[in-house]
Amino acid sequence: MAERNTILGWALFSGVVLLGVTLVSGEYFSHDDEKKGYPIAGVVSEDSGATPAAVPIATLLAKADPAKGQAVFAKCTSCHTDAAGAAALIGPNLYGVVGRPVGSFPGFAYSDAVKGLGGKWDFDRLNQWLTSPSTMAPGTKMGFAGIDSDTDRANLIAWLNTQGSNLPLPAPPAASAKAVAAK
Ligand code: HEC
Repeated sequence: MAERNTILGWALFSGVVLLGVTLVSGEYFSHDDEKKGYPIAGVVSEDSGATPAAVPIATLLAKADPAKGQAVFAKCTSCHTDAAGAAALIGPNLYGVVGRPVGSFPGFAYSDAVKGLGGKWDFDRLNQWLTSPSTMAPGTKMGFAGIDSDTDRANLIAWLNTQGSNLPLPAPPAASAKAVAAK
């Protein structure tokens, strides 16, 4: 009887050891796989526009060129005017939109999604909006997917700011300014 128990004990023990080995090697290999996956995952999330912009808008605006932003605004002109006093098209007039209360162009029928946002269009919120309007305000009437390129978005926002707003640009946070400079 005692002998049988010892045999059982050893069988159990080696089973546990085997399990341990399996777990450890499983860990090892899965980590290896993850590492291989990292660079691709990074590229996808930067360009898809599905995730919020990683670089703060203040950092991007420090290098932005409003003149280049005017060219980017060509994507918007089928739906938006930007001159003072110009009428709404499919979307509201955008003169002075930086700093303007959200959903406030007189006479324009905004969606509940946009009306529900509240507050003002500051640089940060415009950055969020233009990255992906439907992510920021699900159900919005703005039929526009968003702008993936950080540079294009920053140039556009810098240019919008010259159209009747002229607000001082936010100071870039020191750490991320360095990260961008290193790129
Ligand atoms: C296909 C038409 C269309 C295009 C293209 C478009 N928009 Fe819009 N935009 C709209 C509509 C419609 C609204 C109102 C959204 C709502 O009420 O849900 C809107 C709303 C906005 C608002 C909010 C304005 C406010 O008064 O609160 C901003 C800012 C804006 N658009 C900027 C842009 C910019 C910049 C571009 C170009 C990159 C652009 N839009 C491209 C149709 C468009």
